Amino acid sequence: MNNLKVAVIGAGQVGGTCAQRIVEKKLADVILVDIAEGLAKGKALDLGQAASIEGYNFKIEGGTDYSLIKGSGVVIVTAGLARKPGMTREDLLTKNANIVKGIIESVREYCPDSIIIMVTNPLDIMTYLAYKASGFNSRNVFGMAGVLDTARFKFFIAERLNVLPSEVEAMVLGGHGDSMVPLRGHTKVNGRPVTELLPKDELEGIIQRTRDGGAEIVSLLKTGSAYYAPSSAVCDMLDSVLKDKKELLPASVYLDGEYGLKDIYCGVPAKLGKDGIEEIVELKLSEEELQALHKSAAQVKEGVELLRKNNLI
Ligand code: NAD
Ligand code: LAC
Repeated sequence: MNNLKVAVIGAGQVGGTCAQRIVEKKLADVILVDIAEGLAKGKALDLGQAASIEGYNFKIEGGTDYSLIKGSGVVIVTAGLARKPGMTREDLLTKNANIVKGIIESVREYCPDSIIIMVTNPLDIMTYLAYKASGFNSRNVFGMAGVLDTARFKFFIAERLNVLPSEVEAMVLGGHGDSMVPLRGHTKVNGRPVTELLPKDELEGIIQRTRDGGAEIVSLLKTGSAYYAPSSAVCDMLDSVLKDKKELLPASVYLDGEYGLKDIYCGVPAKLGKDGIEEIVELKLSEEELQALHKSAAQVKEGVELLRKNNLI
């Protein structure tokens, strides 16, 4: 794997900020590609001009031509449309699916040995589509959501208990949507179970706020969705891959029987290293958590069925 060149497809809010974080964290050269004329080239130029101030020596190139991504070891896909008024969930799904299919065709052509990290929503469904369309080994196609959802959960708990988010140990599994599964039983603050520190109704409130985390930001920003925390989450996963850290992170991965789920992408803990998903870890879940995970996976399956109905897979 060429681990010094990372392609970011989609130079919008998430893609542009990913590019910035990648070079500021000194992870890799970056290629930015976007269909909008001038956007990727402009952001790449802008980031390049910050190099002497920020002290990074990585190349950042941008454009509309996919041949730029040739030889990238990792491809991060953030391209897509946001839901517009009047658009149904199915409309958005098929529009983004067509975008993702086109991108994956180019990835097959120019980076056949790469690792694909999906970001485009609806995340788990788009990751399944990318896996199917790429023909890659499932270990090399995974999605970012759980790291973001977990970071939000930690932040809300930390804010409430007046501790640092880094003092909170937690994990959010499931699909990236209303049915995500924050693991109550695995949540600790400085080693103490959160269930001993917060009354049940307050913890439930925090769980709901985590599930609504993306929507809360959309309602504040009004013209777009979150990108600072999402790009951090992507870079955390990328860092583990590029440095072969084998960090245990929640990721949307292809399940082939793990957790009793088959032929579906869903968020579970996995070790990320130079070979992509190097191990899927099966945590001991309570019956309630396992049921919630299955319910969440069933929602992802419904989306996948919509793709099938529209002949997109
Ligand atoms: P954005 O609108 O700012 O950027 C999207 C970019 O994609 C635009 O610049 C657009 O020109 C580009 N694009 C569209 N079609 C393209 C194509 N065929 N090829 C190349 N580029 C193309 O949106 P954003 O805020 O950056 O979000 C991007 C995606 O990430 C959305 O689908 C969003 O819902 C998703 N997202 C996911 C998570 C997550 O947790 N997985 C978090 C945040 C955002
Ligand atoms: C979020 C959406 C955009 O969680 O996926 O911010």
